[in-house]
Amino acid sequence: MPGVTSYTLRTGSPARTRSDAVVAGVVWTPQGPRLGEAAAEVGEAYGRKLRPLLASMGVTGKAGEAVTLPTNGVVKAPLLVLVGLGPDETDHVAVRRAAGVAARSVPNAASVALALPAGTPELVAAVTEGHLLGGYTFTRYKSAKPSKGARSSGKDAPLDTEPTTKDAVDAVVLSPVARRADAVAAFEAAQVVARAVLQCRDWVNTPPGDLTPPLFADAVSSAHAELTKGRGAPKVGIEVLDEDQLAEMGCGGILSVGSSSVAPPRLVRLTWEPPAAVAHLALVGKGVTFDSGGLTIKPSSSMLHMKGDMAGAAAAVAATFAIARLGLPLRVTTYAPMAENMVSGTSSRPGDVVTMRGGTTVELANLDAEGRMLLGDALALAVEQRPDLVVDIATLTGHMQVALGDKVAAVMGSDDAQRSLVLDASAAAGEPHWPMPIPEEMTERVTSSKVADLLQHDWVRWGGGLYAAAFLREFTAGLPWAHLDIAGNEMNTGGPYGHVPAGATGFGVATLVQLARDLVALRS
Ligand code: BES
Ligand code: ZN
Ligand code: MN
Repeated sequence: MPGVTSYTLRTGSPARTRSDAVVAGVVWTPQGPRLGEAAAEVGEAYGRKLRPLLASMGVTGKAGEAVTLPTNGVVKAPLLVLVGLGPDETDHVAVRRAAGVAARSVPNAASVALALPAGTPELVAAVTEGHLLGGYTFTRYKSAKPSKGARSSGKDAPLDTEPTTKDAVDAVVLSPVARRADAVAAFEAAQVVARAVLQCRDWVNTPPGDLTPPLFADAVSSAHAELTKGRGAPKVGIEVLDEDQLAEMGCGGILSVGSSSVAPPRLVRLTWEPPAAVAHLALVGKGVTFDSGGLTIKPSSSMLHMKGDMAGAAAAVAATFAIARLGLPLRVTTYAPMAENMVSGTSSRPGDVVTMRGGTTVELANLDAEGRMLLGDALALAVEQRPDLVVDIATLTGHMQVALGDKVAAVMGSDDAQRSLVLDASAAAGEPHWPMPIPEEMTERVTSSKVADLLQHDWVRWGGGLYAAAFLREFTAGLPWAHLDIAGNEMNTGGPYGHVPAGATGFGVATLVQLARDLVALRS
């Protein structure tokens, strides 16, 4: 049975804390590895025996490294887990990674004490987030005895259960500042953010047949009901608009993609309107629940991971719920357009012209450039309320994945200010982004249709990610806007590393929440 990890923050000695395992950081130095300051007592308990022990186990202290050894009573805990911190033990990125590695290193410990660098609220958050995120596995579709080849019964499991984690664990975060109010606040907030990331991962990992647009909207509604139930719960508004309502609203872009599937499209709108809001942020997330490429069908191998094409919507929704849980005094309106991009007799064709929300017409040219059609409508809706900032997040183009790899996302936008807001937030969140331009020539390209206002795609291979951004910009009414292209970042197709498991990564959630916090700080 998957359980939930519960966390406690306290001061205390790592050598004398009673738990199944104690986690210590190892710092890389030119003179060889040494234990991190937070684990100094463990080092003292071992005394002169430690150095040769580390040497014979090949411990170097480099990031990602993990070694587990029995302590034979040298310290209270029977197991010592040594995780590499790299050269700088105050780097929150390294600490988050190391805590994630630690979570996977002792999969069956019922209790664990984390003696990692946690001398500041920021580091307390990194340890907590890293551990919670690193321990995630997606087991809903695994039968209890996989070796027997039993069929999964998970398909019928509700999607609104607790996010998947390993067996229940009691984790103690040891910190010298545990009694400080700012450290406690950072510790609590880190759990809110990390659980939002897990929620996002669960949605992205869910098979596409079980997460069609109506089912995705249901799953968001269930999570919303969970969030808002009980006294003192945050008051978040939700509307789920169906295909008829979308037609009335003139959302031709969402409908043109959605018409290809027997599962109709949806648009989920969330509103968080705290009384003392200092600014209004609009979030828009691409929710293509499966992207076959439509009539411009994808090659088989490119289609393989396209259940993750709703990761932008999942991130925007999960971040919104986290922002509300944190009680941030920021008005947030979130749009999650959802559609399935399929091949059928009711698919839109190249050459069709679509009228978007607001009346802009678009000539279709490539049915695999479907994301911008959903986002165009949703951005047009978002800017009608004149928010102070619009941020969209989308697995939009393979071009950006080719340019930046799968660990760095692209950020484009209305100007430098919007880009640097995102860059600062993403650096603090440990989710790297890189700025990309929207060159002047793109305006000409996106307006080059001979029959409509805009051309959806021009089949020029170069700069496809920038073209997509220029296309989206047409729907932002000149408001401050940032566009996050997370294609490839949403899914880790390799093995786990740091706090990132195999499969869905939850990329973007932490950045969006941090951006909201930064906006609050900026405006207060
Ligand atoms: N969903 C894809 C983009 C994508 C690629 C996401 C790789 C995740 C990993 C998107 O809808 C798409 O198909 N984009 C096209 C854009 C092109 C038609 C301008 C692409 O990547 O080729
Ligand atoms: Zn797509
Ligand atoms: Mn596509």
